Amino acid sequence: MALRNLSFLVALLLSAIECCSGQQALPPGPVTGMVTGNVTFRTTVLDSPVQQFLTITWTFNNGGGPKPVVTSLPNIQKIAPEYSGRVMVNTTTGSLQLLKLTLGDSGNYAVNMVTQDGQTLTGETTLNVYEPISGVTVKANVTSPVEFNDTVSVKCDAAGSQLFFKWLNGSSEISGGSRLSLSDGNRTLTISNILRSDSGPLCCVVSNALMTTRSQNITFDVCYGPDDVVMTTVPQSNLYTSGSNLTLSCSAVSVPPAQFHWAFNGNMLQQEGPQLRLDNILDSQSGNYTCWAYNSKTLQYKPSGLSHITIMQKISGANITGPSALIIADNSSANMTCQATAGIIDSREWLKDGKTLSPSNTVTISADKSSVFIKPVRVSDGGDYLCKLINRVSTANATYKLNVNYGPLKVTVVGKPTVKEGTRVELKCSAESVPTAVFSWAFNGTVRNVKTPEFIIEHAVFGDTGRYTCMASNSVTGINASSVYLLSVKEQDSPPEQLSSGAIVGIVIGVLLAVVLIVVVVKKLMKRRNFHQLDMCAGPSKTIERIESPY
Ligand SMILES: *[C@@H]1O[C@H](CO)[C@@H](O)[C@H](O)[C@H]1NC(C)=O
Ligand SMILES: *[C@@H]1O[C@H](CO)[C@@H](O)[C@H](O)[C@H]1NC(C)=O
Ligand SMILES: *[C@@H]1O[C@H](CO)[C@@H](O)[C@H](O)[C@H]1NC(C)=O
Ligand SMILES: *[C@@H]1O[C@H](CO)[C@@H](O)[C@H](O)[C@H]1NC(C)=O
Ligand SMILES: *[C@@H]1O[C@H](CO)[C@@H](O)[C@H](O)[C@H]1NC(C)=O
Ligand SMILES: *[C@@H]1O[C@H](CO)[C@@H](O)[C@H](O)[C@H]1NC(C)=O
Ligand SMILES: *[C@@H]1O[C@H](CO)[C@@H](O)[C@H](O)[C@H]1NC(C)=O
Ligand SMILES: *[C@@H]1O[C@H](CO)[C@@H](O)[C@H](O)[C@H]1NC(C)=O
Ligand SMILES: *[C@@H]1O[C@H](CO)[C@@H](O)[C@H](O)[C@H]1NC(C)=O
Ligand SMILES: *[C@@H]1O[C@H](CO)[C@@H](O)[C@H](O)[C@H]1NC(C)=O
Ligand SMILES: *[C@@H]1O[C@H](CO)[C@@H](O)[C@H](O)[C@H]1NC(C)=O
Ligand SMILES: *[C@@H]1O[C@H](CO)[C@@H](O)[C@H](O)[C@H]1NC(C)=O
Repeated sequence: MALRNLSFLVALLLSAIECCSGQQALPPGPVTGMVTGNVTFRTTVLDSPVQQFLTITWTFNNGGGPKPVVTSLPNIQKIAPEYSGRVMVNTTTGSLQLLKLTLGDSGNYAVNMVTQDGQTLTGETTLNVYEPISGVTVKANVTSPVEFNDTVSVKCDAAGSQLFFKWLNGSSEISGGSRLSLSDGNRTLTISNILRSDSGPLCCVVSNALMTTRSQNITFDVCYGPDDVVMTTVPQSNLYTSGSNLTLSCSAVSVPPAQFHWAFNGNMLQQEGPQLRLDNILDSQSGNYTCWAYNSKTLQYKPSGLSHITIMQKISGANITGPSALIIADNSSANMTCQATAGIIDSREWLKDGKTLSPSNTVTISADKSSVFIKPVRVSDGGDYLCKLINRVSTANATYKLNVNYGPLKVTVVGKPTVKEGTRVELKCSAESVPTAVFSWAFNGTVRNVKTPEFIIEHAVFGDTGRYTCMASNSVTGINASSVYLLSVKEQDSPPEQLSSGAIVGIVIGVLLAVVLIVVVVKKLMKRRNFHQLDMCAGPSKTIERIESPY
C-alpha cells in the first residue's frame, strides 16, 4: 500500500516537473458531450502495441483546482470515487472515456503521461456537457387572427442548455422587422396586424452546440374577407321568359367561408346560402338582385354587384278585332285593333297582303300602332291583314281578312247579236260584285223567271227578237244594276217574194207605227226611272242601266 502510494507520488512529482516541457498530447478542444452520454478524450498518441506508459494521470478542474480523475499504472488503475464505473483509460494511447455524463462534468481536463523512457506527455482540453434539447413547442396566443386587426404572439419553448432560437417562414429565416419582431432572446415572435400572407407554416429552430431541433410547423387561420363578392346567373342572361328557371350563385374570397344572403330591390330575402334558385319565374320577380357575403370572424358584410334581371312573358293570344258590321265600299269605315291576351308588347307592325301597310289619307295607323282605322273603305282595302306583335322574348302574329262588299259593277251580257230562227241562243251575264250578285232577266220589260247568269233559248223564233235586260243585285250593298242586250232573230231564208206596191206601203206604215210605239215606250220608261223592283233588299237601292248595243 505504502509502496503504491509512493509510486503514485513519484509519478505525480515527475509529471509536475516535466509538465510544461512535454508535447501537447491532446488536440484542441473543446470537447462536447451530452448529459447521460459518453465522451472520449483522445490523445494524439498513436496506438502501438509496444507502447507502455509508466503512468497516465487525468485530472479535472472546474475552477477549484485540479482534482484527480484516474491514475493508471501498468498493473493498476486508481479511480476517484465519484468517477467509479464511469471512466475507462486506454493504456496504449492514454485516451480517457467518460461515461454517463452529468452537467457537473463540464470543465477542464488535463492528462499527464510518463513513458517508460522517462518522457512526459501532457495535454489540456475543455469539456462542455450539454443537456439535450427537448420539448420544443410553439404556441400562439391567437389561432384564428383577423387580418389587419390582430397582433399574434408565438412563443417557442424548449428544454436544454445553451439554447439559441431562430424562426423560419417556410424555408427562409425571419430576421425581424416592422411587423414581425423577435423578443425574449428570439424565443417570442410577434406579428402585428397580421396579413393572410403570414399564415405560415412557421417553425422555431432551437439549437445548441450539440444539436438542432425544429418545432412542429405552426400555421394561422388568418380570417379575412369577404373580398371579390361575385354573382353569376345560370343561364347567363339579363332577360328571361317567364316560367323559366334560373339560378343565381354567389362566391367570395373569405376565411372562414362567407355566409350568403340575398336581396331583391334592396330588401333582404329569406333565402340564405350561396345559391338562389328561382323556379317558374314571374314578371313580378324582375328587378335588382344583390348577394351579400358575411364573414362571422371579420364581422364584415360585402355586397356583390347589382344584377338587373328582367323577366318577360311571351306574347300569346294575339288577335285582331275588326269591324263587326259588314263593310260596304266607299261607304263604311273599319277599325282593326291588334291585341294579345298575355305579354307586354314592345312594338307592332302591320302588313297587308304581305307588304308593310303604310298610312294614307284614308288609312290611319294609331301612334302606338295598336289600331288601323280606314275611312272610307275602298275596294282595294280588302285583303289579308297581319299584325306582328314583338317583345324582347317573343313575336306573335295575328291575321284578319277584311272583306269589302261592293258592286255589282260592270254588268255585261255576252252573246250573238243576230241569230237565225231555230238556233240555240245563250246570253251570259256577268258583274263584279262582293258578295256574288244575284241575277234576273226581263224581256221587253217583262220579268222572266230566270235566276241564273245565263239566259238560254233552245230554239229561237222571230218573236224572241227584242230587249233582254240582265239585272244584277247585291243584297249587301243594296245596289242593283242592269244591262240591256238587243237580240235579233232572223226568219229562215224564204224565196224572195214579189211585193205589191200595197204591201210596200203597208210595211212603211208599219215601220212608222213601230217608231212611234218605240218613242212612246221609251218616254214611259224615262218617266218611271225605276225598273221592276226585283230584289227585296234593305236600304237604298240604285239602278244602273246600261244599254249594250252592237250598232
Ligand atoms: C457509453 O459507453 C458504454 C460502455 O462502452 C456503453 O455501454 C453505452 O452504450 C455508451 N452510451 C452511449 C450513449 O453511447
Ligand atoms: C486503445 O485504442 C486503440 C486505438 O483507438 C485501440 O485500437 C485499442 O484497442 C484500444 N485498447 C484498449 C485496451 O481499449
Ligand atoms: C397576443 O399577444 C399580443 C402581443 O403580446 C397582444 O397584443 C395580443 O393582445 C394578444 N392577444 C390575445 C388574444 O391575447
Ligand atoms: C414544415 O413546413 C416546411 C415548409 O413548408 C416543410 O418543408 C416541412 O416539411 C414542414 N414540416 C412538417 C413536419 O410538416
Ligand atoms: C436573434 O435572431 C437574430 C436574427 O436571426 C440574430 O441576429 C440575433 O443574434 C438573435 N439573438 C439571439 C439572442 O439569439
Ligand atoms: C323548372 O324547375 C321545375 C322543378 O323545380 C321543373 O319542374 C320545371 O320543368 C323546370 N322548368 C324548366 C323550364 O326547366
Ligand atoms: C335597379 O337598379 C338600377 C340601377 O342602379 C336603378 O336605376 C333601378 O331603379 C333599380 N330598380 C329597382 C326596381 O330598384
Ligand atoms: C378591426 O378593426 C376595425 C378598425 O379598428 C374595427 O372597426 C373592426 O371592428 C375590427 N374587426 C374585428 C373583427 O375586431
Ligand atoms: C279603334 O278601336 C280602338 C279599340 O277599341 C279604339 O281605342 C280606337 O279609338 C278606335 N279608333 C277609332 C279611330 O275609332
Ligand atoms: C282577342 O284579344 C282580346 C284582348 O286580349 C280578347 O279580349 C278577345 O277575347 C280575343 N279574341 C279572340 C277571338 O281570341
Ligand atoms: C309572323 O309573320 C312574319 C311576317 O310575315 C313571319 O316572318 C313570321 O314567321 C311569323 N311568325 C309567326 C310566329 O307566325
Ligand atoms: C219586243 O220589242 C221589239 C222592239 O222593241 C219588237 O220588235 C218585238 O216585236 C217585241 N216582242 C214582243 C214579243 O213583244
